[in-house]
Amino acid sequence: MLTRTFESTETWADHLARLWVEQLQAQPDIRICLAAGNTPVPVCEAMVRACRAGEASFGKATIFALDEYGELAPDDAGRCANMIRRCLLNHVDLPAENFYELATEAENIDQVCADYDGAIGEGFDLAILGIGLNGHLGMNEPGTSAESTTHRVELHPASIQSAAGYMDGREPPRWGITVGIKHLLEAKEVWLLATGEAKAKIVAQMVQGQHTTDIPASLLNNHSECTLFMDKEASAML
Ligand code: PGA
Repeated sequence: MLTRTFESTETWADHLARLWVEQLQAQPDIRICLAAGNTPVPVCEAMVRACRAGEASFGKATIFALDEYGELAPDDAGRCANMIRRCLLNHVDLPAENFYELATEAENIDQVCADYDGAIGEGFDLAILGIGLNGHLGMNEPGTSAESTTHRVELHPASIQSAAGYMDGREPPRWGITVGIKHLLEAKEVWLLATGEAKAKIVAQMVQGQHTTDIPASLLNNHSECTLFMDKEASAML
């Protein structure tokens, strides 16, 4: 895993957006797996500016939401897909049918997972991921198999606590569906994003530790095209 550290979150986001623009220019029909959550927001905002300036287009791209919470109605603001809509999709030209999201409200969750795996097909060109405070990738919690495909997850207590931050005071969900680690390890390129001092400890454990399912993000240490992009705060313990 390569590591890159930036002086500020602003320069970090601008750099990532520049790389993303270059990827869209080089491969307009790129297939991207995109994390929700707080970390990618400044990058998405910079991408919206780039699209408005005519530097990039999502017109032929496809985006897969990395994960989704259960127990929330499809229009709930806390849904991961809706976070991605608010920060990116509502403002760029990605055709609605080119956005894949996980229907956690469906009755047959096994079918939802199988359909998502089918849609992922040959895999992602690029996965843009965050890291959880417990080292999770998407909702792949500590202990998840490196061979996992899209699956239902009972959330770890630390992840339920993080989810509470997106719920505006409401009860956080206790389960979700996530793209599995297998698909993330098979992505042609992975950008792992980390900002803020709260992430410094888990980032150091991931980079300096073993490749272990105890810290799912550490499995990316074996990926030949993975870069960890950090701001100064997130890299403070390296
Ligand atoms: P965050 O979430 O970007 O909101 O910190 C990351 C995660 O928990 O995977």
